[in-house]
Amino acid sequence: MEVIRAVGEMMQAAGRVRAQGQILGLVPTMGALHEGHLALIRSARRECGVVAVSIFVNPAQFGPTEDYAAYPRPLERDLSLCEEQGVDFVFHPQAGDMFPGGYSTYVEVEGLSEILCGASRPGHFRGVATVVLKLLSIVRPHRAYFGEKDYQQLVIIRRLVKDLNAPVEVVGVPTVRDSDGLALSSRNEYLSAEERQKALSLNRALLAGKAAFEKGERSADAIEKVMKKGLEKAGVVVEYVQVVEPENLQRPAKVSGPVRALVAARVGKTRLIDNMLIGG
Ligand code: PAJ
Repeated sequence: MEVIRAVGEMMQAAGRVRAQGQILGLVPTMGALHEGHLALIRSARRECGVVAVSIFVNPAQFGPTEDYAAYPRPLERDLSLCEEQGVDFVFHPQAGDMFPGGYSTYVEVEGLSEILCGASRPGHFRGVATVVLKLLSIVRPHRAYFGEKDYQQLVIIRRLVKDLNAPVEVVGVPTVRDSDGLALSSRNEYLSAEERQKALSLNRALLAGKAAFEKGERSADAIEKVMKKGLEKAGVVVEYVQVVEPENLQRPAKVSGPVRALVAARVGKTRLIDNMLIGG
């Protein structure tokens, strides 16, 4: 496994891989790797001859009051996990090389970025879209892997790739959960034991919404109400609970086909998100 820090070196190494006719897969991450990330890496390992993982805590996607400085950075552990998974390249650039002084170009995916998580995190998806396009330009992978855990992010990246004709196939990977149902997240590390119990209400609320649909409920309002009630009862602070169309994130009044239920809530100081397919 080769660990590369310089942008130019990563471009050259990836170029050599493509010149050899190998299929190159990229798994973008911010590190603090857990089984969710490893599921992406395993999919890439199965489907690609050469696998690159990027580890970069992207300052452009954190708001001024968010946890950029506190975000966990267990680099040695991350590198051994990558090694264990048979990763070929880890790209670990420095913030100053990705966004040097004078940097001024950003990608806006309009319509999808201001809603849901974007409403409380202005500029977040602009930072995500920008860094993802940069990573795709540097590595130029044939396939790039993203988790359904961050569903809005996945939809935005699919749209970015389509709109800008980025020559890459975006692969979505299902959410990995702990045995108690909690979706794995690097931010779960912030939770106390008591908060972790409360955090289970996100998955439970989604399951309750799904059960309501399966019992015949078709009103988006009513399904959302069921989910909200469960969250409030558990004592978490609900940011949003929404049923949306899977491709454009618009809210239907009536649920006729498959939809995604999305939730964001604060448990203590920690903001958590989760989502589930309903009717698929
Ligand atoms: P990060 O939060 O590190 O997540 C990296 C990738 O792992 C994302 O595609 C995310 O959806 C996926 N992932 C996280 N938890 C998961 C889980 N429980 N199951 C399945 N997949 C999971 O998302 C980011 O980093 C950044 O925004 C990034 C795309 C790297 C751009 O900076």
